[in-house]
Amino acid sequence: MDRNKVYKIGVIGGDGIGPEIIKQGLKVLRAVGERENIKFEFIEYDFGGERYLKTGEILPDSAIEEFKKLDAIYLGAVGHPDVAPGILEKGILLKIRFELDQYINLRPVKLYPGVWCPLKDKKPEDIDYVVVRENTEGLYCGIGGNFKKGTPDEIATQLDVNTRKGVERCIRYAFEYARKRNNKKQLTVVDKTNVLTYAGDLWRRTATELNKEFSDIKLDFAFVDATCMWMVKNPEWFDVIVTNNMFGDIITDLAAITQGGLGVAAGGNINPEGVSMFEPIHGSAPKYTGKNVACPLATISAGGMMLETLGEEKAGKLIEKAIMKATGERYIKSLEAGKMGMGTEEAGDLIAKFVKDI
Ligand code: IPM
Ligand code: MN
Repeated sequence: MDRNKVYKIGVIGGDGIGPEIIKQGLKVLRAVGERENIKFEFIEYDFGGERYLKTGEILPDSAIEEFKKLDAIYLGAVGHPDVAPGILEKGILLKIRFELDQYINLRPVKLYPGVWCPLKDKKPEDIDYVVVRENTEGLYCGIGGNFKKGTPDEIATQLDVNTRKGVERCIRYAFEYARKRNNKKQLTVVDKTNVLTYAGDLWRRTATELNKEFSDIKLDFAFVDATCMWMVKNPEWFDVIVTNNMFGDIITDLAAITQGGLGVAAGGNINPEGVSMFEPIHGSAPKYTGKNVACPLATISAGGMMLETLGEEKAGKLIEKAIMKATGERYIKSLEAGKMGMGTEEAGDLIAKFVKDI
């Protein structure tokens, strides 16, 4: 690694608990940076509900241009009780995903030791897979409209867009990920081809064709509804799942609760050739704001994913190990807000300390 490199990280605390959990994430990044001699320059941005309510500005195009010059973005959460749902989500989160072409949403599903799991008899070795969610197409593309709105004859359409290019680059990423992840070397395409035949056919054909290039990977297919059942019944079956934007959104909330809840689930919005953004997958949780009760582990873990994606694998792994020590040795008692056995700040301090000592 080039040790003179200074990583330029854009930091968007955002709304609700976002800023306080991001603060813990930064603490841990600084600690691991000191240990591994990694230099960061953190550039803070105040985009979010407060700024929008004060100025009317959500996320100007000039900010997107600035973001393009960064090495990565670290995001807390967006969503404000006084702003109608959709405005900030679309105007900030989705805008960044689309404009920076972060076409992969990578969501590891891993039950850490010592963490409560709602699935009976499942242990950390049973819940350890990743979901590769397509992140720039599908039902999220925003194409559609209303006709005769407000009348009994109203029509609303929402188009599910699947391009060969978009599907192929996503599945290719998933194959590559399956190849380097472990020895299981298995990729499951999750779709609904029994009903959504056109889109499903494109996904399955593309995966089958690519499988020739990745003949070391076992490829299989599953319907999304059945997948939900298996994620609960036999999560140990999975290694890498690849799926479209909407299915990926839904199944990763289910996946998160199987790994102990949203308090620990992290995600990366990845453009393998560009600027990626890392975030906890929980929202802004307004009711916990400023109370020092929110669990910062998901955000801290997202920071670890950021380092791994930047090529700082050792530092990323150190963060994961520190989290596993904190849960496994029961320093952190629960991932639920207010039940950790310590405050948000203290949890951040603890992981920062472990990252240095481990
Ligand atoms: C997620 C979130 C977002 C999504 C929302 C906030 C737009 O649920 O990252 O999973 O639907 O992608
Ligand atoms: Mn979601």
